[in-house]
Amino acid sequence: TEMGCLSLIVLGASGDLAKKKTFPALFNLFRQGFLQSNEVHIFGYARTKLSDDDLRERIRGYLSKGASSEDLEILSDFLKHIKYVSGGYDSAEGFLSLNKEISEHELAKNSYGSSRRLFYLALPPSVYPSVCKMIKSYCMNQAVPTGWTRIVVEKPFGKDLASAEELSAQLGELFDEPQLYRIDHYLGKELVQNLLVLRFANRFFLPLWNRDNIHNIQIVFREDFGTEGRGGYFDEYGIIRDIIQNHLLQVLCLVAMEKPVSLRPEHIRDEKVKVLQSVLPINNDEVVLGQYEGYKDDPTVSKDSNTPTFATIVLRIHNERWEGVPIIMKAGKALSSRKAEIRVQFKDVPGDIFRCKKQGRNEFVIRLQPKEAMYMKLTVKKPGLDMSTIQSELDLSYGQRYQDVPIPEAYERLILDTIRGDQQHFVRRDELRAAWEIFTPLLHDIDDGKMKPVPYKPGSRGPHEADELVAKTGYVQTHGY
Ligand code: BG6
Repeated sequence: TEMGCLSLIVLGASGDLAKKKTFPALFNLFRQGFLQSNEVHIFGYARTKLSDDDLRERIRGYLSKGASSEDLEILSDFLKHIKYVSGGYDSAEGFLSLNKEISEHELAKNSYGSSRRLFYLALPPSVYPSVCKMIKSYCMNQAVPTGWTRIVVEKPFGKDLASAEELSAQLGELFDEPQLYRIDHYLGKELVQNLLVLRFANRFFLPLWNRDNIHNIQIVFREDFGTEGRGGYFDEYGIIRDIIQNHLLQVLCLVAMEKPVSLRPEHIRDEKVKVLQSVLPINNDEVVLGQYEGYKDDPTVSKDSNTPTFATIVLRIHNERWEGVPIIMKAGKALSSRKAEIRVQFKDVPGDIFRCKKQGRNEFVIRLQPKEAMYMKLTVKKPGLDMSTIQSELDLSYGQRYQDVPIPEAYERLILDTIRGDQQHFVRRDELRAAWEIFTPLLHDIDDGKMKPVPYKPGSRGPHEADELVAKTGYVQTHGY
């Protein structure tokens, strides 16, 4: 562990992301002793005029909900470490006073020479360039050689290839890649982090994980609520930019990549980027877009919006392992249930003497949420006197198997990584570029109105056209688990 004092600077401290994710994660880390309490200071920065106590009381308001009395005590202690500075996102004055506060804290802790500064941009990306310029000009950590300055940014990183490249270039001029942490919180989920272990530490999977044995792979994200409250943001982006281009594609990388040379972050990301570069251009005939009925009733959504709230897209990976295996990416809002899972469907058993094909194929399912689990669907003899078969499961449900182990929130884990300087679970610049390359032509076709979403009923499975597309890939629906 590194020594020296730690300054965590939350820019956008009065916003929604800070409230929902950043401060809760920081508090949980603090509670578990991961932020050495004497040395850490948290600085909130935003335009709103607030006093230190105003911000503390706001944070207490949302973090105290449902907390035990013990936690409430820790919370009071946590809040003592928080200060607030108000200022604009392009205001030299604001960032100078922020720097002054941080430096005072470092001096007071007598560790000016080895201090660490982590800037967390809980802000809309439109202000990233100006905020980063301000940090670079006024708030850099001068501590050499042991101190550091790191920047954490949140998606969306651009809207298409060109805008993402522009943003990358702007940030790249100010900071080196090892200083930049692009968060994709799906990479912080327990079962996503488990993927490499599963694939490369189990003899079971090594020989099977390829086109000879796997028929198709589905990566699915469903939510049972719409875009309420964030229609303005969502309408500009849509489900592909919001979920598929980042979260689901990152999951796909880990499912499809070759074995990295080692667990070093660069080795892992080298393999991920190769997967992305091997994805063939999307065929628009293998795309179904949907928009739920009522989406446009939101006053912040444009009346003639062409934005998809649902998409099913078949990707094709052009390499030795995956050629010919349809990769079905599916994401939707306002559907019947909330679920994220990876479903690997194996090929039929040749020469099926049991005639059990109709019951379905072997599948390996990794459920990311809710209720983390992984299970293998397999055919077994139906217990009893008859010689018939049924589909059953080998089931590892985390709630049962690991009852006493709380599963950390994605943000907790990722913020801890940024403090530790581990970039494995963050998106590298070349990954980002390759990810945008895949989706940009389709996104432009949607933006130009050449591709249109079909309506679907909120609370449904999404448009039936999507099920038809999936059936066309040869996927066989088995009984629901
Ligand atoms: C965010 C998207 O990145 O992920 C949201 O912007 C989405 O639209 C959310 O609801 C889903 O995250 P999780 O962790 O709840 O699956």
